[in-house]
Amino acid sequence: MQQQVVAPDTRPEAAQPESPIPRGDDVFELADVSCSYGSFTAVRDISLNIPRHRITALIGPSGCGKSTLLRCLNRMNDLVPGTVVGGTLHYNGEDIYGADIDPVEVRRRIGMVFQKPNPFPKSIYDNVAFGPRLNGFRGNLDDLVEEALTRAALWDEVRGKLKMSGLALSGGQQQRLCIARTLAVQPDVILMDEPCSALDPIATLKIEELMAGLKDDYTIVVVTHNMQQAARVSDMTAFLTVNIDDEVGERTGELVEFASTNHIFTNASDKRTEDYITGRFG
Ligand SMILES: Nc1ncnc2c1ncn2[C@@H]1O[C@H](COP(=O)(O)OP(=O)(O)O)[C@@H](O)[C@H]1O
Ligand SMILES: [Mg+2]
Repeated sequence: MQQQVVAPDTRPEAAQPESPIPRGDDVFELADVSCSYGSFTAVRDISLNIPRHRITALIGPSGCGKSTLLRCLNRMNDLVPGTVVGGTLHYNGEDIYGADIDPVEVRRRIGMVFQKPNPFPKSIYDNVAFGPRLNGFRGNLDDLVEEALTRAALWDEVRGKLKMSGLALSGGQQQRLCIARTLAVQPDVILMDEPCSALDPIATLKIEELMAGLKDDYTIVVVTHNMQQAARVSDMTAFLTVNIDDEVGERTGELVEFASTNHIFTNASDKRTEDYITGRFG
């Protein structure tokens, strides 16, 4: 297996004038992470560090394991029977697969937004209040709902109709409602799996603007198949591909390259990355 992993580009100003990343301030540290569904290994040997308060994009062809890797970050794969995660995955310096770790608490701190907006069939208010209520929140729920909706750039559009069903909103509004629902439980990280692929270009742009604003307070990891989106919103990009073992016909996702988005899009170190970025493959 030939794999070239480039360390995150942490060189100072000259290389990255837009956002030098303080060395060592990583939310996630992955070392040789693999994930198998039963006997099928979907991704393997993933080693990378995800910096805090940055947007990291996971890109690569369909089936290379982007969603699988994303779900490893908050133990969402635990919910798929037969899934085995290998290697080490530290979150804020702690092994989140450790024996004493509560996966429910992991998922509260590391929230997730999915491809298709999935509001509950409840009011806008109750969608946002759902998580805090479940967690026994004792403060002012109205304030919390307003704050989450404001942060998700939805408050102005829904303030007068909080009792309306979340399902009555447009697709883009529903996705922002789902982001508000995630923010309401006060996470540290937001994982997004192709959050705009069901949205029109205007709704997509709104979500991208929202993401750019959220990174001051949160770390975002986003899977996207949209190259322009990765280039527009992310600071760091990981390119994964599918390695096909001709003998046994196994298709395993591997990390080809992880670096600043600027580097990946202008000066990729690996030809496979360049071919993918320029649309020659994938
Ligand atoms: N729950 C599952 N059970 C078995 N195989 C799965 C499951 N989810 C994904 N896979 C397989 O794992 C590989 C990676 O899938 P996925 O992570 O969804 O890729 P991507 O998001 O990059 O398209 C694919 O071969 C897919 O068929
Ligand atoms: Mg996917």
